[in-house]
Amino acid sequence: MTLQSITSGESGADSLGRSEIDDLGPWFHNLHLPDGSQTAAGHPLGDFPMVKWRQIVPFIPADLSGWRVLDIGCNAGFYSFELARRGADVTAIDIDPHYLRQARWAADEYGLQRKVRFQQASLYTFAGSGEQFDLVWFLGVLYHLRHPLLALDILREMTGRQMVLQTMTMPGVAAMQTPESIRLDERALLTRGDWPRMAFIENSLEEDPTNWWAPNHACVEAMIRAAGFVVTARPGHEIYLCEPNLQEPPVSRALRESELSAVLGARELQGEHP
Ligand SMILES: C[S@@+](CC[C@H](N)C(=O)[O-])C[C@H]1O[C@@H](n2cnc3c(N)ncnc32)[C@H](O)[C@@H]1O
Repeated sequence: MTLQSITSGESGADSLGRSEIDDLGPWFHNLHLPDGSQTAAGHPLGDFPMVKWRQIVPFIPADLSGWRVLDIGCNAGFYSFELARRGADVTAIDIDPHYLRQARWAADEYGLQRKVRFQQASLYTFAGSGEQFDLVWFLGVLYHLRHPLLALDILREMTGRQMVLQTMTMPGVAAMQTPESIRLDERALLTRGDWPRMAFIENSLEEDPTNWWAPNHACVEAMIRAAGFVVTARPGHEIYLCEPNLQEPPVSRALRESELSAVLGARELQGEHP
């Protein structure tokens, strides 16, 4: 069983919503519903993701009125609802219809249907879309992707003001000052614990075959920089607050843009020759 599937619908209260909560399970998000019931009261990570939200919330504006937010991998919508309550206009995407069913049901319970639009979509489908969001919410998804740096490049194109990123990492928080260049005969440096490194998981982690990568902290920050962002704060372990790097060196920008446009070009070609 994966972490995402072990939280059966145990509501915290004997309430009217109980059977619907059970029918919609298993739950990964513990939502606190208006009638006092909870969707995953026995979550192994505690009151999840409320615990993470409490760490992040001091770092984002209290009033998000007028902000467009993209919640990627929204799951049952916990963060989308919190952001909508702060005034944001939220687009929430997930590839899994099971979680989207939960999210749409909960939106009705909260009366937030007009503030959050749920869509079944992968973040890759936003490549080249020209869509812009003030805040991109990217929690718990990076390591599920086969192409994490491509994903960050796509998100850079869409991020107007801020991105919040959270990812599973390898143990340790050491990060070296990476040199401008290294020689071939200096490759031993790449094996240092503080060099940006990412472990590839060929089979599965926690029995979830979609856990593809475990970057170390140095690698998360290096990838964020390589994708044209700067890290402005670390609200908690494995959480990164980022903003577009307006002083990005032209050469870095050209490198990421050329690969992204090659991907988009391939997509257009595919469209022309189905
Ligand atoms: C570990 S959960 C994280 C959920 C939520 N963001 C959080 O932090 O609590 C990962 C979620 O990302 C979704 N997901 C995985 N790959 C995705 C993709 N390419 N595009 C959008 N969502 C994806 C999964 O279906 C799942 O709901």
